[in-house]
Amino acid sequence: MLLPRLPWVETIAVDMGTWQTHICVRGHGVVVREPSLVAYAAERRRPLAFGTEARKMLQRGVEGVTVVQPVRGGMVADFDAAVAMLRHFLHQATGRRLIFSPDVLTCISAGVTSVQRRAAHGALHSAGTGRVNIVETPLAVALGAGVGLNVSRACLVVDIGAGVTDVGVFCEGMVTSATFIPFGGDNLDEAIVRGVKRRQGQTISRTMAETLKLQVGSLNGYAGRGGSASAAKTTNHNSAMMPGLPEVDVSAIPEILAEGLTPLVDELRWILENLPRQQRAEVEEEGILLSGGCSLLDGLESYLARQLGLPVTTATDPMSCTILGLETILEDLSALSLGGRRFQRPAG
Ligand SMILES: Nc1ncnc2c1ncn2[C@@H]1O[C@H](COP(=O)(O)OP(=O)(O)OP(=O)(O)O)[C@@H](O)[C@H]1O
Ligand SMILES: [Mg+2]
Repeated sequence: MLLPRLPWVETIAVDMGTWQTHICVRGHGVVVREPSLVAYAAERRRPLAFGTEARKMLQRGVEGVTVVQPVRGGMVADFDAAVAMLRHFLHQATGRRLIFSPDVLTCISAGVTSVQRRAAHGALHSAGTGRVNIVETPLAVALGAGVGLNVSRACLVVDIGAGVTDVGVFCEGMVTSATFIPFGGDNLDEAIVRGVKRRQGQTISRTMAETLKLQVGSLNGYAGRGGSASAAKTTNHNSAMMPGLPEVDVSAIPEILAEGLTPLVDELRWILENLPRQQRAEVEEEGILLSGGCSLLDGLESYLARQLGLPVTTATDPMSCTILGLETILEDLSALSLGGRRFQRPAG
């Protein structure tokens, strides 16, 4: 899998997420950070716009335009749209038409099916890349979050994206066990849609639900069902007074978010309970390292710490951990073991 690099061939890293795509060019850093969206004219012959432009069309609701999410749940869901989007972003990243196909490093959730793995590989290949190297996402996240390669006690890396949560036990430059939970920010948006409908009988779109989550979403001070929510940040807001937001009772948002998070909390609890005894003891002391866009949700860190009974810390730049970790590996592909779970920078 990991052949020596040819000097005239560019090497790039791609993190094609459900919400956004990052591309890093070796020696140039992260050069693309765009929403993973493609806008088509209704008859879907030719893409009209990608990334930020496509998001603007989605928000404006342009007539005759359909906006497609090529990745859902962290996996390629619309192959043709994924290829078109990658081709566009690769041109953007390299600033020109590609003469030589760049080698590419990407990551994928641990434990996905071979079909999903082939879809990610195939989309990159069809978009014009050369050799495709794949590592498991938790390794990239841990390296990007700056967890030391020689740290000898296990910590749990939890990256909560829009469509998937990647979980891995990281220790001494290696992911010893990893999995994914089919949960992300999209599920919280859906929980808000359901919660507002149930409590107020009001129908809001998922885009509107996400806007509410981003602007007034908080678990800060949420004391659980029946507890006092008086400290919750959201009680200070009246959504009707915020431009573009529907008039909803935002004091219910913390409880709605907590309900939406239940499947994630249950899965994490199960994973922790089923770790080997020694690892579990270490993780209980070292705690969880949180990353991914969802980790920016106000109050999530302390909410998870309370629910799981262990320390939780959020990475410094949580939305960039994955691509920054891929960038680290890009500099030294030879330090990566086959299988994409270990990275050991040579001494010196
Ligand atoms: N400040 C914030 N508060 C709460 N949620 C946020 C915030 N900023 C972004 N998000 C959410 O984070 C998610 C995007 O995270 P991220 O960019 O890590 O996803 P992704 O890598 O594209 O997706 P995935 O890894 O699941 O395929 C979205 O659901 C978005 O609504
Ligand atoms: Mg991600």
